[in-house]
Amino acid sequence: MRCEDLVILGSTGSVGVQTLDVARRLGRRILALSAHVNTDKMEQQIRAHHPRFAVMEDPAAAADLAVRVADTGTRILAGQEGLCAIASLPDPCLVVNAVVGMVGLMPTLAAVQAGHDVALANKETLVAGGAPVMRAAAEHHVHILPVDSEHSAIFQCLQASPVGRWAPPDPRQGQHIARLILTASGGPFFGKTPDQLRQVTLQAALQHPNWNMGAKITVDSATMMNKGLELIEARWLFDMDPERIDALVHRQSIVHSMIEFEDGSVLAQMGVPDMRLPILYALTFPDRMTMELPRLDLTQIGRLTFEQPDHEAFPCLGYCREAIRRGGLYPAAVNAANEKANELFRQGKIRFTDIADMVCAALDGRYPGEDTPEEILRVDQECRQRIACQNGF
Ligand SMILES: NC(=O)c1ccc[n+]([C@@H]2O[C@H](COP(=O)([O-])OP(=O)(O)OC[C@H]3O[C@@H](n4cnc5c(N)ncnc54)[C@H](OP(=O)(O)O)[C@@H]3O)[C@@H](O)[C@H]2O)c1
Repeated sequence: MRCEDLVILGSTGSVGVQTLDVARRLGRRILALSAHVNTDKMEQQIRAHHPRFAVMEDPAAAADLAVRVADTGTRILAGQEGLCAIASLPDPCLVVNAVVGMVGLMPTLAAVQAGHDVALANKETLVAGGAPVMRAAAEHHVHILPVDSEHSAIFQCLQASPVGRWAPPDPRQGQHIARLILTASGGPFFGKTPDQLRQVTLQAALQHPNWNMGAKITVDSATMMNKGLELIEARWLFDMDPERIDALVHRQSIVHSMIEFEDGSVLAQMGVPDMRLPILYALTFPDRMTMELPRLDLTQIGRLTFEQPDHEAFPCLGYCREAIRRGGLYPAAVNAANEKANELFRQGKIRFTDIADMVCAALDGRYPGEDTPEEILRVDQECRQRIACQNGF
């Protein structure tokens, strides 16, 4: 049965704020919220939503927040332990994971092991830890509900598959599906040559043409690493051979993704580019609820276009495909390299095109070991440190 009460990890971010908006309109109770350092926004959210718990990952921010909201009934926790504690509350709830980065892995596992369904926006969790997360989800009979618009689109299309309503983790879910087709906006630099990309600025990289998102994913969209991360995410969510997952550039971001059946029939899910739509579906699945949101008017859009990605200018998509092809700890390695490189670019320390070079270099490493959470965290740290040392940061 669907759980009405929500725990929202990363509530101060782009997806987190939109999730709170959807939750408020649905009249859902908020059990717990989390952020990293943004105490101002967290204080506002505590006063508006009255959660029982709020977590600041940063201990100093948690101490500051505890003083600020001492007049409320909200208990303040800190660090990874705090995140895992609210992800695994004993109360029935849906855990929405909207933190950015690998830091979301252990809270996702904590939620799954506590038997909670997870609405997952935090794509790095599945990229680095897809195997243990999906194993744990199967073992604990919980659903991983996609929030990413592309995966929500595939999830919605799969409701029409011959196996009936798709309820993960159903091993029959891939039956009759020939291909998954992820769509990509192409980001702000679509059409630029590798030479032109060497000169682009952070400010330009942060100007996404269609979506208003957090800084890390906006830069990931500009490098098209985001589509590579999504390819790996789709491999795990839908138990699909990565060779049967394609990506197409669709500049208008109206078709959010498609599935092709064995008989050649293709289903596409469409909607305005507004994250509240996939969030709403994740929160209300398997039902559909009415909500006052912008509606799609195809006559206003006029033309929908589809093109092949430019792999020479945007090689990250190919690097991610190679990482998932090799399997094991390679996806965790490319994810870590990208997180570090993306951060260095946002700090003004490296050029835009260095990001792809650093992701490529991660593929040159050797990562023996099992894909357990401990090994994934070890490789993650190793890759970040290697980049920091090799580049003098
Ligand atoms: N934005 C979108 O439209 C969109 C669409 C699809 C998928 N996603 C995915 O959803 C996730 C969130 O994206 P976003 O754009 O919402 O990111 P964002 O705006 O940067 O928000 C990130 C959230 O995570 C928190 N956070 C950051 N670092 C943390 C840490 N070390 N420990 C604990 N919490 C931390 C932030 O807290 P502070 O505010 O305190 O920093 C904030 O609440 C990403 O994985 C992204 O790829 C996003």
